[in-house]
Amino acid sequence: MAFTKLSQQTITSTNNTSSKRSRPLILFLLFLVTFILLLLSTAFFPNPQLVDVIHLQAQSQSHGSIFYSKKVERPPKWLKVILEDRLTRHKTLKVGLINFKHSERSHLKLGGTVSEVVVINVELVSSNITWEKLFPEWIDETNPKGWCPDIPMPDPGEYPRLDVVVARLPCVEEREEIDDNGNRRKAGIRDVHRLQISLATAHLVVESSQEKDVYAVFVAKCEPMLELYRCDDLIWHRGEYWVYKPNVEKLRELVRMPVGSCALAHPHAGNSGSSRQLQANANQLPHELQISARSPREAYVTILHSTEDYVCGAIALAQSILQTNTTKDLILLADHTISHHSILGLKTAGWKIKRIDRIKSPNAKFDAYNKWNYSKLRIWQLIEYDKLIFIDSDFIVLTNIDRFFNYPQLSASPNDKWLFNSGIMLLEPSKCFFDNLMRKRYTFKSYNGGDQGYLNEVLTWWHRLTLKLNFMKFFDKEGGGGDRVVPRDRYTVHFLGTKPWLCYRDYDCNWDRQDYHVFASDDAHAKWWRVYDEMPKDLQKYCGMTRKQDRGVRNRKERAQMANLSDEHWKIELKDPRQYHLVA
Ligand SMILES: *[C@@H]1O[C@H](CO)[C@@H](O)[C@H](O)[C@H]1NC(C)=O
Ligand SMILES: *[C@@H]1O[C@H](CO)[C@@H](O)[C@H](O)[C@H]1NC(C)=O
Ligand SMILES: *[C@@H]1O[C@H](CO)[C@@H](O)[C@H](O)[C@H]1NC(C)=O
Ligand SMILES: *[C@@H]1O[C@H](CO)[C@@H](O)[C@H](O)[C@H]1NC(C)=O
Repeated sequence: MAFTKLSQQTITSTNNTSSKRSRPLILFLLFLVTFILLLLSTAFFPNPQLVDVIHLQAQSQSHGSIFYSKKVERPPKWLKVILEDRLTRHKTLKVGLINFKHSERSHLKLGGTVSEVVVINVELVSSNITWEKLFPEWIDETNPKGWCPDIPMPDPGEYPRLDVVVARLPCVEEREEIDDNGNRRKAGIRDVHRLQISLATAHLVVESSQEKDVYAVFVAKCEPMLELYRCDDLIWHRGEYWVYKPNVEKLRELVRMPVGSCALAHPHAGNSGSSRQLQANANQLPHELQISARSPREAYVTILHSTEDYVCGAIALAQSILQTNTTKDLILLADHTISHHSILGLKTAGWKIKRIDRIKSPNAKFDAYNKWNYSKLRIWQLIEYDKLIFIDSDFIVLTNIDRFFNYPQLSASPNDKWLFNSGIMLLEPSKCFFDNLMRKRYTFKSYNGGDQGYLNEVLTWWHRLTLKLNFMKFFDKEGGGGDRVVPRDRYTVHFLGTKPWLCYRDYDCNWDRQDYHVFASDDAHAKWWRVYDEMPKDLQKYCGMTRKQDRGVRNRKERAQMANLSDEHWKIELKDPRQYHLVA
């Protein structure tokens, strides 16, 4: 009202030359009223956004305090999220800070909600500790400690039990490291400093969490390490703020793992291996509690897509696993190219079938052999299971491997360099993790265009399982080139090269091609046929050769003869009865 009156006066007075002297006064009054109105409106309707904006601005300046100054009295949004989430709201918070500069920490005033702010000291990891040192290609598996370099961690004994651990997380390209030749280079996605801060935070969360929730907050321009901080545990994220309420049991399992693949992972003590113990305890509990104490849901899983060539392989794989008396489920993902007839055989072999739509590899060329390999990512959608052991259908299992369910995601045997082999791996299904993988598939390049290359970019921090779990049938000059036998202590055989069921059983047809000699092993070949012999007759029918496959084998045999290959396998007469019952 007052405002309208004044403006009318102003308008009328502009035409009145005699009131010129009163104009500054009117303008002043106008200003005053506007100011009072503004003040009133902010007092009664505080704008929540405004506080966060101020807060965020303070953060982005390297010398600004990361905590709101005296002018702002409300806690920042991320802290409010935690205050509202806690069960014991009346209690004040103990907050630990990792990797903040002194200037970023000064003037801490958390609106009286925090009783104690603790600065956690972590000595910066030496720049000559590179990812290659944490993830060496080869280790002596008999050395239980491995050769893991020392990565400084905070000593939890020095600090009170915290409610929140806040860490400033370095992002890609921030760290410079020094390689063995003394050259400086950017750390990229395999950044030891980033790992150190993530692990230090995890240690403190785990140590602080006895009978209470502890939150991990990251201030980072990039996503925190999803190997340690599961997207399922992310309760809030905006801009550079990531608030996690970690599942402490899972996090504890991870911080107990070696810092890299420089040592063999050790199984999580007292997990499903002792499920009988769990069961015994459960029987003494009331019924509702028995359900939650049931043994974990675990399964082996494989996938068939784009071709029926591996149907027989998957049948033999299921039979080989069942022959070890597993207690786990067997799940097979199949796309539309797998016929109803094949599905019947796969079911008889022991697989539970799930139909899927295949997923195209983002960078695959037209008709490339790995065009649909990203379909494998769908295993993360099997959320009716807690843990899965994925196993490619060109494997057979020789002895029971159920004990490997005691390892966390992502555990696998090594491939080369710092990479794991995705032929057999332990994983924990999660919807948000699957969505995350799907989202990133256009921005993260796969080094080989397949799922293995992609997964190794997204999950750079993984846990080493013994080489015995993934015996790759590969014999070069260094690797047991002489006798080409599968050592007795191996758990599986991974049939690289031409698959046994696409050869005749008389000998490993990898011998018939000079460039495939590295894959040739009559011993491994015979092991696969032993599984075949154990199979019921109506399953063996699924391993027939097509006319085309038969012609291929014979052509290569003839060419081996013409080339007079010195191993002379081409001299062996084909007796396999499958040659007389070619399938359509
Ligand atoms: C890294 O450098 C330090 C000296 O700065 C040295 O003591 C240490 O042995 C080196 N570590 C490795 C793994 O090379
Ligand atoms: C599996 O169980 C059967 C029957 O109990 C037994 O005869 C066989 O030896 C077991 N196999 C293995 C590999 O333990
Ligand atoms: C892609 O899938 C095919 C068939 O399952 C497999 O033979 C090949 O090794 C895979 N390639 C990559 C790069 O993962
Ligand atoms: C084939 O190779 C063997 C030695 O491996 C040699 O004795 C023989 O003469 C060769 N035959 C022909 C036709 O080149």
